Amino acid sequence: MSKISGFSKLTKIEKIDWLITHYLPSYSQAESIIKQYWHTDEALQKLHDEFTENTISNYYLPLGIAPNFKIDEKLYAIPMAIEESSVIAAASKAAKFWQDRGGFKTEVLGTTKVGHVHFTYEGDAQVLKSFFDAIKPQLISETASITKNMEKRGGGIKDITLKDKTKDLEHYYQLYCTFETVDAMGANFINSCLEQFGQTLEKEARQYAAFTAEEVYPEVVMCILSNYVPECLVRAEVSCPVAQLGATDEEAQEFVKKFSQAIRIAQIEPYRAVTHNKGIMNGIDAVVLATGNDFRAVEAGVHAYAAREESYSSLTKVSVDEGNFKFWIQVPLALGTIGGLTSLHPLVKMSLAMLDHPSAEQLMRITAVAGLAQNFAAVHSLVTSGIQKGHMKMHLMNILNQFEASDEERTEAVEYFKTHTVSHSEVLHLLEKLRSK
Ligand code: MEV
Repeated sequence: MSKISGFSKLTKIEKIDWLITHYLPSYSQAESIIKQYWHTDEALQKLHDEFTENTISNYYLPLGIAPNFKIDEKLYAIPMAIEESSVIAAASKAAKFWQDRGGFKTEVLGTTKVGHVHFTYEGDAQVLKSFFDAIKPQLISETASITKNMEKRGGGIKDITLKDKTKDLEHYYQLYCTFETVDAMGANFINSCLEQFGQTLEKEARQYAAFTAEEVYPEVVMCILSNYVPECLVRAEVSCPVAQLGATDEEAQEFVKKFSQAIRIAQIEPYRAVTHNKGIMNGIDAVVLATGNDFRAVEAGVHAYAAREESYSSLTKVSVDEGNFKFWIQVPLALGTIGGLTSLHPLVKMSLAMLDHPSAEQLMRITAVAGLAQNFAAVHSLVTSGIQKGHMKMHLMNILNQFEASDEERTEAVEYFKTHTVSHSEVLHLLEKLRSK
């Protein structure tokens, strides 16, 4: 395979030519596929090209809508960017189900974000502590130009503390810094503050007599925000009388018994918890993506939170008390509704408008609800009909596309599978039958 230097400096066309020559020489449709996904509006294409580097084309994901979400008494149609069949159908079904049973209730439990200056120091811990106490006001005042705008919006640095981590790693200390970033996800703000803290720390250390006497100075290793945000936390909940969960009392009792057992299994069995939480992330990621937020950050933070106790566990919980069923999620979500892609990507802008221009807190609520709804729908199917029935029904179009079914064949197939179970081989069998006529 070929090496190249200066690839990023080539024009888009040159990059494509190079790629095809060296990596796709016998892929005859490569160029047309790449160009097929270019936007005809050149300005819009340029915007996408500039989101990242070495862009050759656009990678589309479907953007769907899950309507009928009643959240804190307000109705939402939630935008979801996701490729997986049945996720949006499941969310919509759960939304409708809970709309008639009081809807979703949410609470933001915190919005604090965290970052660290990780550093080493080989001297006396007490000396370091006195040094930190002396420079703390300066750490804050030297970020004034960075924090000015954020403070105007009600955010800023909340606190800085010194943490001695030498029991875990020799000579390792940190400045543990907390932030409020209001409606911004805040990564750039936090990282800029942290880098300034790091510079102030090293600069002041050079002038601190107790360090210079021993010639032992703190040394910054790195300054970076944490995507683990257990204090940027939201809770979403549904509840209703058990009797409302089935056509008959018996059915409702049976459902609640199995549903609760399924949640408890996900609480104690990590193998199940991972899949259980993956289903939750089907809903969360789809909203995070549609609203231009960083799904990798959210994923990393959520899974760390799910593993915060003895072992990796379910993000949702259930209780049944005096005939009342309650099902809830508590999840850390560092989201933004200003900055980043939110004012750049036209579909993101529209998605946020559709949600009535939410604050970051409101978006946390909506996103947590999407996760809870998704989990309710998945576990509901799992403990009743099984997951494949609904999933394969939604997957039917993908299978028909794979076999290049005509419009007539699709119509016949949709009709046929109203009363039959969808499977890959059944679809093929039906198409063969139709085609042999
Ligand atoms: C599939 O994407 C998600 C599920 O596996 C989630 C679950 O098992 O709870 C259906």
